[in-house]
Amino acid sequence: MSQTVRLGVFGLGTVGSGLVNIIRKRNAHLKDRYGIELEVSRAVVQNLSRKRSCETDGIRIGTDYAEILEADDVDIVVELIGGTDDAAHIVLSALEAGKPVVSANKALLAERGPEIMALAHKKRTPFFAEASVGGGIPILKTLRESLVANRIDSLTAIINGTTNFVLTKMEEEGLSYYEALKLAGEMGFAEADPTFDVEGIDARQKLLILAAHIYGGVFPEGEILCEGITRLTESDFRFARKYDMTVKLLAIARRLEDGIELRVHPTLISKRHPLAGVRNEFNAVFLNGDAVGEVMLSGRGAGSLPTASAVYADVVDICTRKAAGDPPESHRKSPAIVPPDRISSEYYLSFTIEDKPGVIGEIATTLGAHGVSVSSVSAELIPNVPDLGEVEIIVHKTTEAQIRQAVQAIGDLSRIRGKGKYIRIEGGLNAK
Ligand code: HSE
Repeated sequence: MSQTVRLGVFGLGTVGSGLVNIIRKRNAHLKDRYGIELEVSRAVVQNLSRKRSCETDGIRIGTDYAEILEADDVDIVVELIGGTDDAAHIVLSALEAGKPVVSANKALLAERGPEIMALAHKKRTPFFAEASVGGGIPILKTLRESLVANRIDSLTAIINGTTNFVLTKMEEEGLSYYEALKLAGEMGFAEADPTFDVEGIDARQKLLILAAHIYGGVFPEGEILCEGITRLTESDFRFARKYDMTVKLLAIARRLEDGIELRVHPTLISKRHPLAGVRNEFNAVFLNGDAVGEVMLSGRGAGSLPTASAVYADVVDICTRKAAGDPPESHRKSPAIVPPDRISSEYYLSFTIEDKPGVIGEIATTLGAHGVSVSSVSAELIPNVPDLGEVEIIVHKTTEAQIRQAVQAIGDLSRIRGKGKYIRIEGGLNAK
């Protein structure tokens, strides 16, 4: 005999409709495999007259949150409305009432994850949010279960599809940042206001969720180094090609002796690195576990069916076992975040210079004065622009604080135009 599990779904937009479509398609399989059938008994939406991308027959659709939270024909609550205030109310109320919850809400997890996990644990009620990071990629469950034997020494990830699409088009088609972003918008890979994505904030929130899964504890968002892709130009990609590298927006978590390094920024990586081959809107997470070694998971980080695939898996997980959500967080001591100033790396620097005698010497002297050692320098005149040149420098491993101060001081030199910029080189120039 099969058991019917009834879902109350908050939000029937892109992901909610995808979930309804998957449920309809997979119910026969689910029944056959686990003796379970899923039914969306209720849904809450903002606008009742909006056309849906799924069949809604048999779903009681309303606009009142309280009604569905109190309904006795809802066994599992699925929160897909996004945002943090209403979503937190929904998730916390459902858990308080002992109803299992599945959410796809990255902002909610990043801001209030520990509080939600603590309540889930207290109530011994499952809470899962696989879809909050990397869309359809099963990364949280992999970290929690499949790689439980491992201490995760580092995680390097492409976890924003918009920026990966833009960077791929800049690299492969020679588009400018603005041309590539426009194309991303036209193809549905960028929001009308893409600030959150291009400034790295979306990736930082996902990194926080991953870090909480790996290390436990609470990491204040403001303490994480975060730089977006808005200042990258075609010349950065030209430089990258010269060294058989590419530029990716990476989210990095690394275990050091005295704490955890967490950062999001554009990064030069070798074309031989598995992440270099992750193209367009795809996401990927590259892990290093002390037992398993290197593991990479890659897939679509957004979209109706990929995201709903992860939500569906969480729902089935809840139905097929009696797990009580995540382990308690209380016994996991929060590791310290290594202050961003102490992060160290090799760097690529570039400056626009006036083509006058001694200007490269001044730059080298300023770097030296800040304890930054040069590995290579090249300079070229800018075609069709009289008396201006571009100087590109690679420096040996140095700290973030040193490089920032040095670049600022160089930007203040009278024969430097603009502020100059730097890009970190993951693993260094000679990385395998
Ligand atoms: N805007 C995100 C991205 C998807 O481009 O990856 C939702 O988190």
